[in-house]
Amino acid sequence: MKRKLYLILFALAITCTTLSLAQENCPIIPLPQKISIQEATYTLPNSFVIKTRYSQFKHLAKQEEPVLNNLLGATQRKKKEIHLRFDASIANEEGYQLIISPEKLEISASGTPGCFYGLKSLQQLILHATYNDVNEIPAMRIDDAPRYGWRGFMLDESRHFFGKETVKQLLDMMALQKLNKFHWHLTDEPGWRIEIKKYPQLTTVGGKGNFSNPTAEARYYTQKDIREIIKYAADRHIEVIPEIDMPGHATAANRAYPEFSGGGNANHPDFTFHPGKEGTYAYLTHILREVADLFPSKYIHIGGDEVHFGNDKWAADPDVKSLMQRENLVDIKAVEHYFLKRMSDSIAALNKTVIGWDEVVGAGLSKENTLVMWWRHDKKQLLKEAIESDFEVVLCPRRPMYLDFVQHESHTDGRRWGGFCPLDMIYKFPDSDMTGGEYYLTDKVLGVQANAWTERMHTRERLQFMIFPRLSAVAESGWTQDKNKNYENFILRLNSMQKHYKKEGITVFDVMNPGEQQEIRGPEKKKHH
Ligand code: ACM
Repeated sequence: MKRKLYLILFALAITCTTLSLAQENCPIIPLPQKISIQEATYTLPNSFVIKTRYSQFKHLAKQEEPVLNNLLGATQRKKKEIHLRFDASIANEEGYQLIISPEKLEISASGTPGCFYGLKSLQQLILHATYNDVNEIPAMRIDDAPRYGWRGFMLDESRHFFGKETVKQLLDMMALQKLNKFHWHLTDEPGWRIEIKKYPQLTTVGGKGNFSNPTAEARYYTQKDIREIIKYAADRHIEVIPEIDMPGHATAANRAYPEFSGGGNANHPDFTFHPGKEGTYAYLTHILREVADLFPSKYIHIGGDEVHFGNDKWAADPDVKSLMQRENLVDIKAVEHYFLKRMSDSIAALNKTVIGWDEVVGAGLSKENTLVMWWRHDKKQLLKEAIESDFEVVLCPRRPMYLDFVQHESHTDGRRWGGFCPLDMIYKFPDSDMTGGEYYLTDKVLGVQANAWTERMHTRERLQFMIFPRLSAVAESGWTQDKNKNYENFILRLNSMQKHYKKEGITVFDVMNPGEQQEIRGPEKKKHH
């Protein structure tokens, strides 16, 4: 009996050692599915040439060759080749195989995204080598594919505007860690940030101000800027999903075109679009048409959240009252749902799929054409209801996926709500008790996303301090199977990534030495959204 136990423990120890050795020598974030490390090593050259005879990979080869060579401080001597191969047997188009032997470097994939991710894994191995002052990497074979197809990050640029360079750097860090959806929250109470040609005042008037300074000069993205960001993201296999929030959170738009305002209250003036005027639907459909033309994504996010924050004026409004009569709407909630149905019909007519926050569950929208973002962690039954109603769902509950919550117990600036959002909680998500059951273990759940709301983030430094290194945990939450996750090992692998963040000039929370760094604080004025 005792002997048997010893044998089991011995076998377990060997398994754990093999796994942890593999992970130690494979410092990639997110951790790949299968790694087998060999004794041999591959010596890094002074520069690479990336070769491929497959036309679908040629653009990647050209784009990524200088990225890798920049890490090596390349001279023209001692070039080595990297080969990109098409392999139809790799089922997942985001999957890849990376083979490193003393003689060769080879990446195989069936899709361009998978080939790109193979190159990103290689890039991380080289980064790790250079940060540790060695010029070789272990020979290994990696067979990898993501757990989820949706690995997202949302940036709110209405509350504070950060601009193209900050966004591009975020996209770089996302791509390096295989995050593939950039959800861009472009409209809300303080500012409207996307140029709409038919309604220029949306940006010239609605673009003025931000959460900490209502009189700040107008800041927004022109359509040309947006195309530039979309292209930059697409080159990194990131899809950009625009959000135009309605019928609430419409304050900035209503400053520009008050004729479409449905009013608000003292705390949230002019918070809503007017649901009782036919003109509102035409106006918003024109806006969405320009948005649909601009963004290649099949999705348009129409928000739909927190309408009750400011729909006080609806019940007494004569146009809303006659709409209720005409359409048999029993209460204000029914008006909200009517509005959402009208706008999702417009989106369907534009051949796009609707995304809404979890308020849209129960609004009667089409299951086939609506994706739900579950955000209210305190309403776990909504996740269950969304899945049981057959909606596709992305998991982004406030806890642990809202990055405006603080990330360390010593931090005082940022949200807390029965706790906060530390690195390990994000890392373990969704395989923790944060979903309130195992409903999330279904194909209906497309993936996970972290959201950076920026009321308390007014500078690039503060924004980065709140996002990094948590973005790395988001990446592993979306990519790595639960059975392969190990937080202690993740922290070891995070070492090189932290160095990389710093080298890139990113202000990162030093999670290894939390006591030694002053908290980077948000703006003076304090208020929650
Ligand atoms: C939200 O945080 N209002 C979606």
